[in-house]
Order: sequence, then structure tokens, then C-alpha cells
Amino acid sequence: MPGLLSRRLLFVTGKGGVGKTTIAAALAKLSASLGRRTLLCEVDARGDVATCLGSGPSGYRPAEVASSLWVMSMDTEAALRDYIRLFVRVPLAARLGPVASALDFISTAAPGVTEILVMGKVCWEVREGGWDVVVVDAPASGHVVSQLASPTSMGELVGVGMIRQQTDWMVEMLSDTRRTGAVVVTTPDEMAVQETLELVGRIGSETVVPVASVVANRVLPELFGRGEEEVFGSLSETGPASRLSGALGSDVAPLFDAARLAVQLRRSSVSHLSRLRTGLPGSLAPLNVPNVFVSDRPSCVTDDVSTALAAELGI
Ligand SMILES: Nc1ncnc2c1ncn2[C@@H]1O[C@H](COP(=O)(O)OP(=O)(O)OP(=O)(O)O)[C@@H](O)[C@H]1O
Ligand SMILES: [Mg+2]
Repeated sequence: MPGLLSRRLLFVTGKGGVGKTTIAAALAKLSASLGRRTLLCEVDARGDVATCLGSGPSGYRPAEVASSLWVMSMDTEAALRDYIRLFVRVPLAARLGPVASALDFISTAAPGVTEILVMGKVCWEVREGGWDVVVVDAPASGHVVSQLASPTSMGELVGVGMIRQQTDWMVEMLSDTRRTGAVVVTTPDEMAVQETLELVGRIGSETVVPVASVVANRVLPELFGRGEEEVFGSLSETGPASRLSGALGSDVAPLFDAARLAVQLRRSSVSHLSRLRTGLPGSLAPLNVPNVFVSDRPSCVTDDVSTALAAELGI
């Protein structure tokens, strides 16, 4: 089993909009295609996982959407209900009244409770759910660190007793390099690379979760091979370009402009990718996923991204 997918719990995160949900869905599909019982968990429950998979809307109870692939959406109120059912004595649970207002009350009194409920549910699925792999479409850079750190923070806050026992096993699971990992997704542009390097540093220093991989998503292809750029240069000079336009009966200048722009974008992305590589610890060579030009159907993008990841992982 290739390194990344041999782990049982993967948190996919990164800057907003870089392709976290797509990479999470693609990894989950890849894992399922290897015959492993895979659960893909959407933390923010916006329905983007369903869009990326081309499946129906998902709920809190895992639903099978393809062979070996299940999907669930996090619901902190339902997670609290689960928690009460599993761990709290019935009379106390009854006294809590409606769970929604209890959750409101608790999370106002102690920030971080919602986060720990999410982490508790995810870790519980890994331990008890019978999954081979749980892939979490986790929050973006701004929120993921406190999310991943919540069991440790809670454990430090509550020195002994039932809650401490429950955070201890979560911390043990989250810190186990063989079982758990964060996958940080980026795009090859300056802001995303900067945010990625900071995020990798923060996950390392503020959480126990090991960073398993960095994915450079939407990498542009090299447009011209050796020699082709010279041909392109000659063709786009005024004389040849206007003869071409004349022969075709339409202006080719916008096409040359578009090609020049693509070359420039590719060049600048190469320098950002090299900054990414040099800024990361040596053990974290980024996986490259190309920009997919297939169609505007996100589920087709996910399929192509999954194939690209398989090639990068040597599957
Ligand atoms: N490799 C790719 N090639 C082409 N399009 C892609 C690629 N990866 C992602 N996309 C597209 O980019 C858009 C954003 O992707 P996605 O929703 O996965 O990002 P995200 O990081 O989860 O965003 P958010 O921060 O809003 O949750 C989607 O339309 C998706 O289809
Ligand atoms: Mg998303």
C-alpha cells in the first residue's frame, strides 16, 4: 500500500479555494478503487463533496455512494447527541434538555467544544467504524490548526477524569505517523505557497498531527517543447502572423496572446513550486497534480485528479 493511503486517517486542508475538496474526494475515490472501505467526511457540510463526486447530498449517517466509498457530512449537534448516548449517564442526558440549546450553551461557555466534537466523531469512526481509511475534507488554513489541536488543548485544560481519558486516546491516534496525517493542498502561486509553508510549520509546532504530504494542485503543463518556442516566436512576428490571419480569414493575434500568457503563467508557477520545494522539510516532496481542462463538471475533474494522484503515488 503506497505510503499516503496506508494511513487510516487523513485530514485534507490548505488555503481557501485551492482544491481541498477535490483532492479529498480524489484520494477517497483512489482508496476505494483499491478495494479499501473508505469514508469521506465533509466537515463544513456545504455539499461540496457531493458536487465533487457527482453524488446526492450527504447526511450525518455515512451513505455508500460507490463501491467501497461512503460519504458523511459533519453535524455537531448530532455528534453531541452521539456523545451523550455513548458516554453520559442517562439521567444527566435527560436533564440536559434539548441538545441544540445545550450545545449552544456549552460552546459559548467553552470555545473549542464544537471542534472537539468534530475530532471526537472522526477519531471514533476510525476506531469503531470499521473503515480502512477515513479522509476528512477539513477546514481551511485559518481554522484547521485549532481543529487538529483541540484534543490536546482540551486534555491540557481537563487534567483528569472521563474527558481526559477520552482526549488521551484521540491524541495517541492523531500523533501516530503510521495511522494519521495531514495533506496540505496548494496551488503554484505566491500567496498559496506562502500560506502553505506557514501552515505546514504551524501544524508541526501547534498540533500533534504529522504532515503526511503536500499536494501542488492545478500545475500548468509546459506548453512548448524544445525548439517549439522558437517556431512560436517566428510565427507570432508581424509578417507571418498577418499572413496566417489572411490565410485563415480571422485574426490569430488573440491566440498568440493567450499562448504567451500561458507560457508566462507556467514560468511563474515553476518558480513558486521551487520555493515550495525548498521551503518544505526534505521529507515532504510535493505531489504534483495538473490543472485539468476536461470540462466544467467538477466530478470529471475529480476523476482526472484521482488518476493523476495515482500516478504520483506510483499506484
Ligand atoms: N486540478 C484541477 N484542475 C482543474 N480544476 C480544478 C482542479 N482542482 C480543483 N479544481 C476546481 O477548482 C474549484 C475549487 O475546488 P475545490 O472546491 O476542491 O476547492 P476548495 O479548496 O475545497 O475550496 P473551499 O476553500 O471553498 O472549500 C472547483 O471548481 C474544482 O472543480
Ligand atoms: Mg472545499
